[in-house]
Amino acid sequence: RRRIGVLTSGGDAPGMNGAVRAVVRMAIHSDCEAYAVFEGYEGLVHGGDMIRQIHWEDVRGWLSRGGTLIGSARSASFRERAGRLRAAKNMVLRGIDALVVCGGDGSLTGADVFRAEWPGLLKELVANGELTEAQVQPYQVLNIVGLVGSIDNDMSGTDATIGCYSSLTRICDAVDDVFDTAFSHQRGFVIEVMGRHCGWLALMAAISTGADWLFIPEIPPRDGWEDDMCSIITKNRKERGKRITIVIVAEGAQDRQLNKISSSTIKDILTERLGLDTRVTVLGHTQRGGAACAYDRWLSTLQGVEAVRAVLETTPDAPSPVITIRENKIMRTPLMEAVSLTKEVTSYIQAKDFDKAMTLRDAEFKE
Ligand code: F6P
Repeated sequence: RRRIGVLTSGGDAPGMNGAVRAVVRMAIHSDCEAYAVFEGYEGLVHGGDMIRQIHWEDVRGWLSRGGTLIGSARSASFRERAGRLRAAKNMVLRGIDALVVCGGDGSLTGADVFRAEWPGLLKELVANGELTEAQVQPYQVLNIVGLVGSIDNDMSGTDATIGCYSSLTRICDAVDDVFDTAFSHQRGFVIEVMGRHCGWLALMAAISTGADWLFIPEIPPRDGWEDDMCSIITKNRKERGKRITIVIVAEGAQDRQLNKISSSTIKDILTERLGLDTRVTVLGHTQRGGAACAYDRWLSTLQGVEAVRAVLETTPDAPSPVITIRENKIMRTPLMEAVSLTKEVTSYIQAKDFDKAMTLRDAEFKE
């Protein structure tokens, strides 16, 4: 029986457990054995009981559970070749030659590097006497399939990452809560949301809650934004009778010179220029925890099933796939194509070519 490993890596995201559950059950359904690797790549490097066979009933009730029940880590040892050598040995000893990795672009790139190195790693293990030719012979090819798990929705080539809609829901609930207290005191609130270098959570939250102003990394405000922001907020309060002001700021927000725009700077502007009683609320890790929303439950399930299909169908010379969703269809995309498109957008932003970055994002959305 073929043995398929599954691990979660990088920042946890609601829906990761649903993905693991689907991979485990689809593997068993396909007459394979499923192995969970605990604590991300750390488990692969350390071996022992950090790599364990998982049965159908072990993942019962996992669909709704937040975080990742098999643990995650940002593994330093797997970034070194020596760590990957140990990981390869642990896998061969357990007869695992296929890995489904659920994580962000860094974690998925790591998996692809591992696949490319695999034959060389096996040769080295035989050469230094750690494994025999007979042991490695049946496992000459490593299959890797990626699932994008991240609240940030920062991966190109897919409309949604596993976890982003749960996080967005949580942010909207939090903004609604703040709304009540802001209304009572006629206050202004600057609400900082996660997303690393991506503004998707902030943008979608602003639209979903009817915020007054928004800052995201991809579209820095034009110079003189302080006046623009103050004038729209004044209009909303004085002419349109709004009792509350909500400004949403992505944690990666920046101006056109790539200087960080912080929540406290915005608060000071609202306080000093408009005399607005303003508070800052940083939502922090509450955005990452909690139960998966319905969207993330079905997305992780359908993508987990597709990941196992891809494991069984990917030929040795084909590029590693990542499972995506585009226009509501579950698809396979070459993993490194998605990663390099993601990096291209980021590099345009870093080069301050915001129009090109947006054109690329736009093209990707229309694709
Ligand atoms: O990538 C998910 C994320 O939650 C980002 O939004 C945030 O910038 C980062 O992880 C926080 O990382 P940590 O949990 O390591 O502080």
